[in-house]
Amino acid sequence: MRIVGFNESWTTLECDVLIVPLFSDDDLSHPTVVQVDELLAGQLRELIDSKEWKGKAGDTLNLVSPRRSRIRRILLLGLGKRQDFDLAGLRKSLLTSLRRLNRPEIGRLAVIPRLGSRKDEACRATIEGVVLGTFNPGLHKSSNSDATRIEELVLIGKADEAKCPKLQLDQAAVLARATNFARDLVYQPSNHLGPARFCEIATEMAEATGLSSEVLELDQLREQGMNSILAVAQGGGETPRLLILEYRGSSEPKSAPIALVGKGVTFDSGGLSLKPAQAMEDMKVDKAGACAVLGAMKAVAELKFKTDVVALIPLVENMPGPLAQKPGDVIYSLSGKTVEVLNTDAEGRLILADALTYAIRRFSPSCMIDIATLTGACVVALGQERAGYFANSDGLAQELERASTAAGEKIWRLPLDPVYRDALDSKIADIKNIGGRWGGAITAAKFLQEFVEDVPWGHIDMAGVDLFTGSDGLGPTGFGVRSLAHFVRGRES
Ligand code: BES
Ligand code: MN
Ligand code: ZN
Repeated sequence: MRIVGFNESWTTLECDVLIVPLFSDDDLSHPTVVQVDELLAGQLRELIDSKEWKGKAGDTLNLVSPRRSRIRRILLLGLGKRQDFDLAGLRKSLLTSLRRLNRPEIGRLAVIPRLGSRKDEACRATIEGVVLGTFNPGLHKSSNSDATRIEELVLIGKADEAKCPKLQLDQAAVLARATNFARDLVYQPSNHLGPARFCEIATEMAEATGLSSEVLELDQLREQGMNSILAVAQGGGETPRLLILEYRGSSEPKSAPIALVGKGVTFDSGGLSLKPAQAMEDMKVDKAGACAVLGAMKAVAELKFKTDVVALIPLVENMPGPLAQKPGDVIYSLSGKTVEVLNTDAEGRLILADALTYAIRRFSPSCMIDIATLTGACVVALGQERAGYFANSDGLAQELERASTAAGEKIWRLPLDPVYRDALDSKIADIKNIGGRWGGAITAAKFLQEFVEDVPWGHIDMAGVDLFTGSDGLGPTGFGVRSLAHFVRGRES
């Protein structure tokens, strides 16, 4: 999809579809909207006055424009109340609207980004919404008519180059495409995307974008002593991997990199602590953290951010085969800490523990961010709207907040009080892999904290957001890609 601006009057533009966003309390005073109403011979006002058009967020109405016009269809897009409006809402409304067009191919799509006080942000959110709207969940349908292909996206009235630099528009497109890349991967079933295939795709992406990549396989994991990763994988299925990607964008040689760590459980059956069928149904998405990190690395490399970043992605299947770890087993993790595994379904923290230790030993990172579909408790606490996050440094917490705001992805900080650590005391080993009944997202984070030493660290628990997202009915959102990329951008030297 090409993305271009159009400075002349939009009425002279030839296009297949023009999207006209309207608030539910729109006073129709905006000059472009007045022009649309004129073109439609007053229909717009009529629709609003008669209340047939309410303009609630995500509402759409497909109108045929007059024969003499070069615009073939006009799509009204509801944004809800002006006062409640935000860029995340714009993105969401746009991406749903594309589905409603029922058109597999659009040659030229024009949008009036007349919204918000910050025009550059409105343009970026518009691009992201449209690109995200072209995501196609029907990966394995023999005849796939669900996708919308768009050749060209035209932003009307992008007059002011200073306010809306082309670079920013390109960035928005790169970020949205990286998000779709991650969504594709999250959505792939485990029989099409296990640890090995994940590494192949990552390696291809790395070659194409100039990242360096490395894959540690079974023997190397054993040699290193990554027993915590090995323990989860020993229940069967494919052998585990640790995927490492390196991006060097800093002008200083050997600067301490940011480390991004993503949970890559390509299927989580629970292991011997087997999940009930309903809870297992969606567990192909238990690699969403890994996909978010991979997508972010793609964006970082393509946008050539001026800082150093490494990604560490442990990849396993959690299965209940004959050699599976058993409740009560004790693991000697890479860090040297011993872990009593009382529930094999708390596997994410086990593979992350070794990855975090390895990141510290090999890369001496300036900070580490991990992202994981870690606990059902986090979904219970925050629902589907926000991911939970934790940080052992307030400065880092602020950076994460800023990044997520820029990305339009919502997160909410949860606490790490020392007292929560007590729930993880084990009689036989240094730590248990589960806490008690309460505060499950927090005890999981406390477990991870045992492995980060004194490195500034943030942990994002995204169990809720990626699994159940119904906003566009398209499954995974690719949550995390843009927040992580914005986080990296914030640390450019
Ligand atoms: N992958 C799950 C967490 C999850 C739950 C992700 C729901 C997406 C949606 C994780 O490995 C898990 O099973 N966690 C357990 C931890 C418990 C055994 C302490 C959970 O949340 O039930
Ligand atoms: Mn689990
Ligand atoms: Zn899991």
